Amino acid sequence: MTVHFIGAGPGAADLITLRGRDLIAACPVCLYAGSLVPEALLAHCPPGARIVNTAPLSLDQIIAEIVAADAAGQDVARLHSGDLSVWSAMGEQLRRLRVLGIPYDVTPGVPSFAAAAAVLGAELTLPGVAQSVVLTRTSGRASAMPEGETLENFARTGATLAIHLSVHVLADVVARLTPSYGADCPVAVVFRASWPDQKVVRATLGTIESAIGAGERTALILVGRALGAEEFDESRLYAGDYDRRYRPVGTAPRFPE
Ligand SMILES: C[S@@+](CC[C@H](N)C(=O)[O-])C[C@H]1O[C@@H](n2cnc3c(N)ncnc32)[C@H](O)[C@@H]1O
Repeated sequence: MTVHFIGAGPGAADLITLRGRDLIAACPVCLYAGSLVPEALLAHCPPGARIVNTAPLSLDQIIAEIVAADAAGQDVARLHSGDLSVWSAMGEQLRRLRVLGIPYDVTPGVPSFAAAAAVLGAELTLPGVAQSVVLTRTSGRASAMPEGETLENFARTGATLAIHLSVHVLADVVARLTPSYGADCPVAVVFRASWPDQKVVRATLGTIESAIGAGERTALILVGRALGAEEFDESRLYAGDYDRRYRPVGTAPRFPE
């Protein structure tokens, strides 16, 4: 028996890996985080599968479902939205499973920041503009931010920021970022990337608040000079005179064949 943790992707039912889909199809038990996992994915479950929405369950109740499946020798597909490496609450489940001696594995998924960048048609790391992406959030009721991981600190780096779980405090985000990025810095808020009702609002730090209203909270705030920039260097990797292992150039290439 194994618990298969599977990244279910950002919303579109076809943005899941083939491995994830096949594991869902092979498991007689499916536990899914119903707040964000698309129900369409449940169509991959085998006939008669036990399918449980864990959104209203406590951690103890979720683990009880897994323990019951273990006792019955049944594999479990455990679905969380996006990828499991960020804000999935997988860590605490894995820790319980290690204590219980229940085997597990992890299949990655498409994270929401990648889906949002795809919607924008944007590379978040443009040469000479930004070479880092910070995946972050602001404090919430359930999770405080560790000291040091402040928006102000990240803003000082000039990296592209992908701010999760924070659209409801947009005014505060804008106030904290503007001193470093400037009011003319591009911002995009992508609501429900890849869902049928996805919405994109592009603006600047100075104008984004008036451009979006209150409401939908499943959104990513992307901030940085890389968004919409046309003034950036071309990558040296593809420059005609750049001598590299896969494309030796000149009479004395650095990596002779
Ligand atoms: C609990 S976190 C889950 C993150 C997820 N594990 C991932 O890989 O992106 C939920 C937050 O992720 C962001 N998010 C998740 N799905 C999204 C989507 N389809 N479009 C925009 N933002 C999304 C929002 O900021 C939302 O508040």
